[in-house]
Amino acid sequence: MSKHHVTTSINGEPVEFLCKTQQTLLDVLRNELHLTGSKEGCASGDCGACSVIVDGRLVCSCLILGCEAEGTSITTIEGIAQGDHLHPVQQKFLEHAALQCGFCTPGLIVATKALLDENPNPTEEEARYWLAGNLCRCTGYDKIVRAVQAAAADIRGETVA
Ligand code: FES
Ligand code: FES
Repeated sequence: MSKHHVTTSINGEPVEFLCKTQQTLLDVLRNELHLTGSKEGCASGDCGACSVIVDGRLVCSCLILGCEAEGTSITTIEGIAQGDHLHPVQQKFLEHAALQCGFCTPGLIVATKALLDENPNPTEEEARYWLAGNLCRCTGYDKIVRAVQAAAADIRGETVA
């Protein structure tokens, strides 16, 4: 079967890849491009472990095809930090012990960045609503929400007690 040639930008770098028609973007990221930070939890759009940002929109990479990435700009968990410099979301997740396992955390970090790009001052309710698509059965989400709000304050240039 012939493959599609896709030209895109991933984490600020021009990227070209070949993919089969039925390959999801998640499959391409993990198995063709070896960007394994995005995880496959459910493969059906329910868990958020595969979250990436495509042209500024938070999407489940298990729900779109690699072919659909043509001409888009994609941010994955690997592109959130700038070299050794953690993104404020990552820093605050660390400081607030909001890190969970390696399956849910990448998606939560990406989803939180997407939230704060769109709304730099979310209420607790807005943060919880936004992250409702990122499932973790092991936490009550309180530390995560505190980390989200601390990161938001940091990005706004405010200090929090
Ligand atoms: S793997 Fe994509 S939402 Fe669960
Ligand atoms: S699913 Fe990651 S800690 Fe619960």
